[in-house]
Amino acid sequence: MANNQSYKVKFFSGEEVPLELHKVRIVQKLNLIPIEERLKAIVEGGFNTFLLTTKTVYLDMLTDSGTNAMSDNQVASMLRADDAYAGSQSYMRLEESIQEVFNCKYFLPVHQGRAAENIISKVFIKPGDVVPMNYHFTTTKAHIEINGGSILEIYTDEALKVKSSHPFKGNLDVAKLREVIKKYGVGKVAYIRLEASTNLIGGQPFSIANMREVRKVAKKHGLMIVLDASLIGENAYFIKQREPEFKNKSIKQILHEMIGLVDLTYFSSRKVSSTRGGGICTNNLEIHNKMRDLVPLFEGFYTYGGMSIREVEAMAIGLIETLDETIISQSPSFIRYMVNELERLGVPVVTPAGGLGVHIDAGQFLSHVPQKEYTAGALAAAFFLISGVRGMERGTISSVRDANGNDVLADIELLRLAMPRRVFTLSQVKYAIDRLHWLYMNRKLVGGLKFYEEPPVLRFFGGKLKPTSPWPEKLVVKFRADFGDSL
Ligand code: F0G
Repeated sequence: MANNQSYKVKFFSGEEVPLELHKVRIVQKLNLIPIEERLKAIVEGGFNTFLLTTKTVYLDMLTDSGTNAMSDNQVASMLRADDAYAGSQSYMRLEESIQEVFNCKYFLPVHQGRAAENIISKVFIKPGDVVPMNYHFTTTKAHIEINGGSILEIYTDEALKVKSSHPFKGNLDVAKLREVIKKYGVGKVAYIRLEASTNLIGGQPFSIANMREVRKVAKKHGLMIVLDASLIGENAYFIKQREPEFKNKSIKQILHEMIGLVDLTYFSSRKVSSTRGGGICTNNLEIHNKMRDLVPLFEGFYTYGGMSIREVEAMAIGLIETLDETIISQSPSFIRYMVNELERLGVPVVTPAGGLGVHIDAGQFLSHVPQKEYTAGALAAAFFLISGVRGMERGTISSVRDANGNDVLADIELLRLAMPRRVFTLSQVKYAIDRLHWLYMNRKLVGGLKFYEEPPVLRFFGGKLKPTSPWPEKLVVKFRADFGDSL
């Protein structure tokens, strides 16, 4: 198919429908339980959606990590897994895929994305170093800091604007990069990190034009660029859609162009290849050799890196499928549909629609709930309670406390509703929109949260909170008044 072929299907009615280009052949039964049972579940889970069990969840929009649907070819490939501790043929097939998709000669397998971050941070960060980046990801920041470094977020002014039509809100601000180098000195900059489809600002991509600018600065100062490619397929798709120079290029050509502009690429294959696992790749043997010995130490032998060989096989296929636009456009097109509908209904949502999921602006949605009462966390809990849809808090709960024990308030309070690839149907998406609309109309009933159990590291995973007033019970009463005995 020609590279400029559109995958959009027009309807005679004129309605914009993100038509599925796959069929469903294995299904899983879901549980939509009564709201009163969900109230018990969220109380037991400390108002933290990470602590819910899927028995109580209807649509699991917590994450796309390890939850994308696998293809028939991926599942089939698992049967030919060549289980060997060393030198498995499955691993050779994975290396071939890495070469084809990322155009990289040297590869190190790891058990997931943060394992790559552990190795990269251990090797390249010295105490006192800084890492400038377009935005942090939670595990990335934790690994950099645990090795004595700190992060510097040098996003553009557009990045944190909730309503925007900027096509590349994930761009790194190159002028700020020059200032950072001047201020700290080249010796203190461990490397520059670029994150594809920048997760925490709403799955927003950067452009190749921006990468080229960053490259120029990096080259001038002899600095290494590290690319977090966990969501690179979607970023490449947005480049094709939004950066005119690449309109007629294939996804493969775009990926090769991107990888060619950095020194080191790592990824969580829980996202990029719809499997579980991760990897680090480069064309620079010196960089590769610096990290190599840590793989058998922390992960497993060089040819499995802590992954099951079945996953290695499925990953080899999943990576190749990333080159297929009908596959990587599925989640962004459902996201676009949901964002457009929510905007139409007046629900505050991050625009333009990005990758990964729909991001609700909790700060605006619950403008009466102060940030120190965890606005986004309250919205995540309230939305689960009234719908069974599980999203993820991406705000101050996902942040940390400063040296004095005060919360470092997040730049933006978001509720992320992830859209795992090819998992949900359009009617399920419509249900999520409908319930979110209802909650918006009843938003004043929602109150804040406070911690009663707070782990010191990555507290959002295991922390427990309780409501600051009996607002959950009030929501249940209003739900019953409006929906009768409906689930
Ligand atoms: N980098 C980015 C951009 C990510 O989104 C993630 C994971 C990681 C690194 C870490 O990878 O989970 O395989 O160890 N993101 C998941 C999420 C957890 O829900 O967004 P991992």
